[in-house]
Amino acid sequence: DLPTSYAEPQGNGGETHQTTSDPAATMTSQQGIPISDGQNSLRAGPRGPTLLEDFQLREKIFHFDHERIPERVVHARGTGAHGVFELTDSLADYTTADVLSRVGQQTETFVRFSTVAGRAGSFDLARDVRGFAVKLYTAEGNWDLVGNNIPVFFIQDAIKFPDLVHAVKEEPDRGFPQAQSAHDNFWDFASLMPEAWHMVMWQMSDRTIPRSYRTIEGFGVHTFRLINAEGKSTFVKFHWKPRQGLQSVVWNEAVKINGADPDFHRRDLWEAIDSGDFPQWDLGVQLFDQATADGLPFDHLDATKLIPEEDVPVRLIGTLTLNRNVDNFFAETEQVAFCTANVPPGIDFSDDPLLHGRNFSYLDTQLKRLGGPNFTHIPVNAPRCPVMHFQQDGHMAMVNPKGRANYEPNSWGPEGGPRENPELGFKSFAADVEGPKARLRSETFADHYSQARMFYLSQHPIEQKHLGDALVFELSKVTRVDIRARAVSHLRNIDEDLAATVANGLGMALPDPAKAAKPTLDLPTSDKLSILANGPDSFKG
Ligand code: HEM
Repeated sequence: DLPTSYAEPQGNGGETHQTTSDPAATMTSQQGIPISDGQNSLRAGPRGPTLLEDFQLREKIFHFDHERIPERVVHARGTGAHGVFELTDSLADYTTADVLSRVGQQTETFVRFSTVAGRAGSFDLARDVRGFAVKLYTAEGNWDLVGNNIPVFFIQDAIKFPDLVHAVKEEPDRGFPQAQSAHDNFWDFASLMPEAWHMVMWQMSDRTIPRSYRTIEGFGVHTFRLINAEGKSTFVKFHWKPRQGLQSVVWNEAVKINGADPDFHRRDLWEAIDSGDFPQWDLGVQLFDQATADGLPFDHLDATKLIPEEDVPVRLIGTLTLNRNVDNFFAETEQVAFCTANVPPGIDFSDDPLLHGRNFSYLDTQLKRLGGPNFTHIPVNAPRCPVMHFQQDGHMAMVNPKGRANYEPNSWGPEGGPRENPELGFKSFAADVEGPKARLRSETFADHYSQARMFYLSQHPIEQKHLGDALVFELSKVTRVDIRARAVSHLRNIDEDLAATVANGLGMALPDPAKAAKPTLDLPTSDKLSILANGPDSFKG
């Protein structure tokens, strides 16, 4: 009789007043002691001192004092909803993952949309990337697809993430500004990081001021792997395509909406679901093998690159429907914990160095944010399948292994608890690994401008104008002219007309183009290794 599921909170056993249907229910303390007077604290005389004996006052104040938990270090402002994912096209040839194999199967989901840079109390229409985090409660454990509404990222290596976030969020001496208007630190950092400029172009586009959470796309960003029953690996990129279409507002609308209704996006989502107008997204996959990956003019492990849909088409395989608002914003939306490392058997990681950092970071931060190692016991985080292991205790533990043995292997037979399962259990793909152990960045990650240019040129002329206007507006807030110049010097490597427009808008002369990385992708391996060892400037070829 080991625990089979954490889905039902256990250990309390009693009805709580929040759920009673009796309108005349008696208010109690947390200990269940009935309350006779909730208006006055216990004092010695009507105008005398308050007594330490007043357990009712102490409990109420102590609990209030501890209402806040740390907000998320990024993506602090968000809103969530429940839904269901239905598979319409089986990927059983590519993966053993049950959630992607059985057509018609419905999987319970929870989604949290968010902005990235603002605090929990910031406004919804900031020019910012949107988080699109999906938890699928599959029959083989939770699968978290923790994505954004932009298919690429600012940095290639997780070791730069704290720098990126420090540069984006409030400045340390003054505590402002956030994402609403540009500021020196973000542009200083971006101008020193050529790899950021593909994402900067998306960030300055209309994508970052969406009309609604219902009208954004979602992207898993990284290349993942699917593993089939023969152990064969296929690379995959995940996409969410909104059935509501892709819609944005324009900047002056965003500014007005922020002033009039900072909760615009969360209200919009809530009201749509509440009125039965359930938003839907199709899940798409780009599937490709190693040979295709090898033929790409960039590295599929580089999170600053997307795979053009013309080259590898998106295959739609299922539909997500959000159909239920949360009952308790704190319990569900605030306490939900996503982690890129949560994947069921049949889904695995590529060697994207950003993904590997994320796999560590989410669990680490949640240990602090949610107060210890048992946050999977919180109903929104609890798998909906049997959970059987030998971990125990810790703060707020709701379920411990039952019976005699809390270790394995053990020889207690059926009483000894669960056993490992080599057939069904998660197995990492046995990828070959080679090369020197060193702090290296592959030269295949070096082309920072081609896809930035591709994105800009893919925009409609009106969208290109919005993008140029956004750059002028944001860079005009930067106080240091050398930072402005360095930013425009990158634009010269992306599109000369755009660079000229922005320089003109800022009233400055065109700077020299930023020094582009050398196109060394087709060099012999010996040259590449020499560059890796001695730095790009050492190469005279
Ligand atoms: C939170 C997406 C890169 C660390 C989030 C959330 C999303 C997200 C959607 C909000 C989750 C929620 O709603 O609770 C992404 C994407 C990335 C990326 C798409 C790049 C492709 C990174 C990197 C790191 C990181 C590189 C660290 C190395 C975090 C942390 C949180 C977070 C610490 C807060 C989690 C929590 O408190 O529960 N990210 N992120 N992210 N992300 Fe990322």
